[in-house]
Amino acid sequence: MDRAKRLDKIPPYLFGEIARLKAQAISEGRDLIDLGIGDPDQPTPEPIVEKLCEAARNPITHRYDETEAGWPEFLEAVARWYRRRFGVGIDPKSQALLLLGSKDGLAHICWAMIDAGDVSLVPDPGYTVYKVNTLMAGGDAYAMPLLEKNGFLPDLSSVPSDVAKRAKLMFLNYPNNPTGATATVEFFHEAVKFAKDYDIAIVSDLAYSEVTYDGYVAPSMLQIEGAFDVVVEMHSMSKTFNMTGWRIGFAVGNSDLIAHLNKLKSNLDSRQFPAIDIAAAYALDHVSNNATLELYRKRRDILVDGLNAIGWKIRKPKASLYVWAPVPDGYTSAEFAKLLLVDAGVLVVPGSGYGQYGEGYVRMSLTVSGDRDGERVAEAVRRIKENISVKW
Ligand SMILES: Cc1ncc(COP(=O)(O)O)c(C=O)c1O
Repeated sequence: MDRAKRLDKIPPYLFGEIARLKAQAISEGRDLIDLGIGDPDQPTPEPIVEKLCEAARNPITHRYDETEAGWPEFLEAVARWYRRRFGVGIDPKSQALLLLGSKDGLAHICWAMIDAGDVSLVPDPGYTVYKVNTLMAGGDAYAMPLLEKNGFLPDLSSVPSDVAKRAKLMFLNYPNNPTGATATVEFFHEAVKFAKDYDIAIVSDLAYSEVTYDGYVAPSMLQIEGAFDVVVEMHSMSKTFNMTGWRIGFAVGNSDLIAHLNKLKSNLDSRQFPAIDIAAAYALDHVSNNATLELYRKRRDILVDGLNAIGWKIRKPKASLYVWAPVPDGYTSAEFAKLLLVDAGVLVVPGSGYGQYGEGYVRMSLTVSGDRDGERVAEAVRRIKENISVKW
């Protein structure tokens, strides 16, 4: 039976390839240190789990959520959190939408906004969901290179004006996956002006806004004057509260964009188990995940300081779960990732998997299964030091 042609636009899922290499090494009985996928290894904080159990016993959560934009208790907690965290007022009735994780919002905003021939401006390297869903919806993805010399921010002045005129969406993601870069408020100003000049909607992916170190506080694009005219921001409970498996996030911002996304989604899914929304509302109001952040910071320092001491040239990220490491001369990112896997038993992701401008780097995640206090990360550094000899 023939499948729809749109499925041919999907490249193999990045982590599918990695998973196969990983499975092979494990079947050979090798002890792998997995710095691959960015999936919090620590459990969800206990008070959130307790709240879920309590909510699960309330029969009110056992039926469809038939509310307009998602469980009101959750959307009200989102508005309170935005006010506290960013000093930004959100109307929970018209400017917020419950999501099944931020991936849901990032993928489906393409389906709600892109017609054949429309363009999305997507960061390269970048989270692949932006590009793939633009292509499947019949649009074209224009890659905005994120270069180290520009602090991994796109150069908006280099987007050709005919492309900008066709663009309906621009995806921005700071703190950034995979580069670990952060954005300045000046850049956000510039982006909002550019979007208004060309009538483009900005999709600001804030999945990592709360994964920050050394006192850095990530801004929201909605703090910029006039941003509500053009910006929708996608948030995730996944990385903030170690809740990847729960599938909950939210969109906030421009009420038209929220309404378009809601119209599409109300014909696609029937939301998640409302007990999850109640527990997530509790998390936003009451829970701090600082212990997990402190563990990531410790791992980051062991990894970056340890590798830089043997010649690597890595910038220490102020935010995100990722260390973006340049590869040595003479290797592609895939070749270097394979060398680390085969000779050191350390799994990293080749930067080329995130786009052509990711070539020349590998991504190392600070979520490390089985690591209690940095010892597995220290072991990864030791193995690389002893088994990998490259010229920098
Ligand atoms: C940049 C970015 N945005 C969004 C997501 C999706 O997260 P979730 O759907 O769990 O909220 C991820 C997941 O890795 C990500 O890296």
